[in-house]
Amino acid sequence: MAKRNPNIAKLQAGYLFPEISRRKNEFLEKNPHAKLISLGIGDTTEPITKHIAKALTNAASALGTKNGYRGYGNEQGLLELREKIAEVVYNSSVSGEEVFVSDGAKPDIGRLQLLFGNDAVVAVQDPAYPVYIDSSVMYGKTGSCNKKTSQFNNIVYMPCTPKNNFFPDLRKIGKADVIFFCSPNNPTGAVAAKGQLKELVQYAKKNKSIIVFDAAYSEYIADKNLPKSIYEIDGAKEVAIEVNSFSKPIGFTGVRLGWTVIPNELRFDDGSLVRNDWNRVMTTLFNGASNISQAGGLASLDNIGLKEMKQTVSYYMENAKLIKSALEELGYEAYGGDNAPYIWARMKSMKSWEAFDYLLEKANIVTTPGVGFGQSGEGFLRFSAFGHREDIEEAVKRLKVKLK
Ligand code: MLT
Repeated sequence: MAKRNPNIAKLQAGYLFPEISRRKNEFLEKNPHAKLISLGIGDTTEPITKHIAKALTNAASALGTKNGYRGYGNEQGLLELREKIAEVVYNSSVSGEEVFVSDGAKPDIGRLQLLFGNDAVVAVQDPAYPVYIDSSVMYGKTGSCNKKTSQFNNIVYMPCTPKNNFFPDLRKIGKADVIFFCSPNNPTGAVAAKGQLKELVQYAKKNKSIIVFDAAYSEYIADKNLPKSIYEIDGAKEVAIEVNSFSKPIGFTGVRLGWTVIPNELRFDDGSLVRNDWNRVMTTLFNGASNISQAGGLASLDNIGLKEMKQTVSYYMENAKLIKSALEELGYEAYGGDNAPYIWARMKSMKSWEAFDYLLEKANIVTTPGVGFGQSGEGFLRFSAFGHREDIEEAVKRLKVKLK
């Protein structure tokens, strides 16, 4: 038989969210009548709004007609959509040709790993969205997992905790070639301020690193002083790639649509354009985002679509407020939830998995254990604000009884 990829064998456990589903299903098998509420995976729950849904329907119907049928599109996405993203999301500070449309931020993060050699040193915030580390492991960029620390050798972990206001001390991290940085942050809900992103860009310039800036939750930023894109920082185009997604602001988690910006200024150390290699990766491994999804994405960026997007985001942010204030009332230290759909709460004396099990069994609420995102997440739980309002209200009631 063929040999198993030794890099995949280095991974210690299953991917975090399927593992949570497994535990949830195991609980349901034993307690088939339990009315579980999920504040676990950040999956959208509200219907796609009218104008955007209509664009999807029209695009699907057109495919059933002789004139409207389309086969393969450009691997980089519809030019109209790329230009619209550049104009609306980036205020024309990037051009359409720098925007590459895709099937989502997560698959792009995986493919981006191909741009860098296996000896590239990767740095991640700790805690972090698990895809940055797991994909680095799969591509062979790491050593094995240190059993004592549960961290991978050759990865630079940048602790982000309440102590440092969720922003790493960049003087302590040594040299990294690729830095994954997520703001608004999944899982902590923290948003980096302009001054902090300036520091990050300066670090990257000094160390010749490339930042992969994950802005998948940027539409959740309500505070006008907080940066929604790394490109709001002078000089960022020379050191940063930005990944974003339609999933969370318009409920496209199942429809699938996202994008990556690779600025024309961004070069590898041999002077070659990163953009050209990304184009090579995408034209080889990807056949273009679904034309139906792209029609929906386009509709979400016109005037009516943008209004609808705001409604969707506000709905979830109202949920975030309810969860956060309940936790605070109960005396828990809670972060995030103001400019991000995640609340990050320290569970007093409980460890993360202990708190997860406690809430699952006693309150029938599914959360995400903080330690699943990294060692600095131990003792925390992440509460997702995605859910129907009535479920959130019911969850809050239960929390008030069981976490007292
Ligand atoms: C999460 O819960 O962290 C996210 O929903 C996962 C994802 O976006 O892939």
